[in-house]
Amino acid sequence: MTYKLHPLQSIPAELLPRIAEIHLGDAGLLSKLGYSFVLRYFENAIQDKQAFGFYAQSEETAEVMGFSLASPEPSSLTSKLTEDKAWFIRNIFKVIFTRPWAFLQMVISSITIRGQMYEPNTIECVYFTVDPKFRGQGLGRALQKALMDEGRKRGYKKIYASVETWNTASLKATQANGFKIIKTFREGLYHRHRLESEL
Ligand SMILES: CC(C)(COP(=O)(O)OP(=O)(O)OC[C@H]1O[C@@H](n2cnc3c(N)ncnc32)[C@H](O)[C@@H]1OP(=O)(O)O)[C@@H](O)C(=O)NCCC(=O)NCCS
Repeated sequence: MTYKLHPLQSIPAELLPRIAEIHLGDAGLLSKLGYSFVLRYFENAIQDKQAFGFYAQSEETAEVMGFSLASPEPSSLTSKLTEDKAWFIRNIFKVIFTRPWAFLQMVISSITIRGQMYEPNTIECVYFTVDPKFRGQGLGRALQKALMDEGRKRGYKKIYASVETWNTASLKATQANGFKIIKTFREGLYHRHRLESEL
């Protein structure tokens, strides 16, 4: 399998739904809110001035295989979802009626995020996801490593990640990239390791 990594910020608009589709394979809260939230999130993320990321594209078929995203302030990406109030209310009501537990988790997570202080000169590995067809071949690790290299170039000193304790693939890739577990915590339904690495 041969691929190239491209900056997420320069992804052609017609490929963004594919990023959203791949992201639905992530077990985190955003994917549980559904496709419309995921697509809106990435539409905002590629226009955000501080966030950066990469997508992997097959050199043989041009298929998008996976992506990664980092930000020094991930909560600003989440709060952008509420900027268009009419859109947010329409879509959040669908979540309340169809997946009430996802709504409850969203409330718990937004309270937790509000309490989080961001250290200067640090970034968060917000997401890295690979299409199931291409997993287990080092792509996840390469996409996360690209965030670390770019973060270092931009002058950041440290990178953080939160990984659910059961997520062996993510933990293996993240630890192979040099991250160390600094604490384990509960956030609503989620039980997570907090990891960090120097850049
Ligand atoms: C996490 C994820 C991005 C890893 O992508 P990937 O391309 O498979 O990652 P890599 O091949 O670089 O490394 C994964 C490692 O986990 C191992 N692995 C993969 N699936 C595994 C599983 N189910 N159980 C145990 N180990 C597993 C691989 O063998 C590899 O280890 P190795 O380097 O020792 O061989 C991918 O599994 C994914 O998209 N998961 C869903 C989204 C997600 O959880 N993202 C991370 C959120 S924190």
